[in-house]
Amino acid sequence: MMINIKNIKGTKDLLPNETINWRQIENIIHHFMEVHGYSEIRTPVFENTKLFHRGIGENTDIVSKEMYSWTDRGGDSLTLRPELTAPVVRSYIQHKMGKSRPLNRLYYIDSLFRRERPQKGRLRQFHQFGIEAIGSPFPEQDAEVITMAYKIYETFGIKDLSVRINSIGSPEIRTPYLKKLRDALTVKNINLCNTCQKRINKNALRLFDCKKISCQKILDNNAPLIFDFINKNDRLHFEKVVSILKQMQIPYKHDPKLVRGLDYYTHTTFEITSSELGAQDALCGGGRYDKLVENLGGDPTPAVGFAAGIERLFIALGKETNPHPPPGNIYFITLGEEATQKGFVISEKIREKHGLSVINETLQRSMKAQMREANRLKVQYVIILGDNEIKKDLAIVKNMDSGQQEEVSLKKLPNHFMIDSL
Ligand code: HAM
Repeated sequence: MMINIKNIKGTKDLLPNETINWRQIENIIHHFMEVHGYSEIRTPVFENTKLFHRGIGENTDIVSKEMYSWTDRGGDSLTLRPELTAPVVRSYIQHKMGKSRPLNRLYYIDSLFRRERPQKGRLRQFHQFGIEAIGSPFPEQDAEVITMAYKIYETFGIKDLSVRINSIGSPEIRTPYLKKLRDALTVKNINLCNTCQKRINKNALRLFDCKKISCQKILDNNAPLIFDFINKNDRLHFEKVVSILKQMQIPYKHDPKLVRGLDYYTHTTFEITSSELGAQDALCGGGRYDKLVENLGGDPTPAVGFAAGIERLFIALGKETNPHPPPGNIYFITLGEEATQKGFVISEKIREKHGLSVINETLQRSMKAQMREANRLKVQYVIILGDNEIKKDLAIVKNMDSGQQEEVSLKKLPNHFMIDSL
């Protein structure tokens, strides 16, 4: 029987013509983060399942439906990370980062796993870049995070962005608000979908995540909004955040229905969408999570951050592939066993001395075929070494732009390629 093994549904191979673009994007992200004073953190791909139950919330879609969890041979329940805020906070607490400085500005570029129904812009293994600023309770920190999210898309040249922002206030108002919400929606003649019926009792804030138009209509007509319940200080905080956004000329809209799908949020929530994306239109999302550090066992520490989907960034950029590999510097054409061996040794010296790219022949092809390969790779020089040249202790160096050829002694060859001449 033929074996036909393919990648798992919802995952994607990144082929060489795509990794070029990914690296470019990653380099821009690293640079952008560094000039804003953020340092990179990398956490393990899997964590103890408890971290996400406590961190994200048992009744969220992510935890109740979308996690890849399994029991390890040692009996522990482990989970492939479905997001990075909880792992970063776990690491922050574990390494006592709060002790060494009052504010930790961290960023990441990594892969995540959610068992969602795959479609355009929605995968089961996907990638995010994001930031977590842990330590400041002040509105300028929220404003910095939202401004960075907006500006990085500008850096990428993505226009047509829509920034929505809201405040869901302090955790203390949650219980009285949720009671009002439940009361408003458990009256006669209101027919929410089955999922929402369950949500009403378990976690009523999640009702706002429902995509069904009928449920949205019911909410529009009947549901009180959490923004109307937030206290004076929280309102002031919100107003200060948006006043900085105005100064920074970030076009935003206040969306009082924006509650976000993870339980850890407090106060500010925000999302940036693009009409380029279709149904899965969120480029990035985030907000403040002032209780998460404490809930995961650390000292009470305020924090705010966002995360952005990289696959969705590529959709918005409209270039998933780039047909031009970067040109190489030198192709080393060798004919015969002795030439091949010598070619390997000399190539290594050229790389070490000049940091140039030198590509060796390992297919024992004819001179003509190797020359064709050198043309395909668009190298600037080829070095030709065959039995005749070895006898004379030299190689032929051909400049592929001018077509000029010269003979260079094997001894001088490693020093022949000065960086300036390329
Ligand atoms: P999130 O809204 O779940 O937030 O995800 C952030 C972004 O990740 C989304 O806006 C989207 O671009 C991308 N994304 C999410 N799911 C998928 C998927 N299945 N396929 C492709 N892209 C996807 C968080 O993850 C929070 N940790 C954000 C945060 C950081 N809040 C505070 N700090």
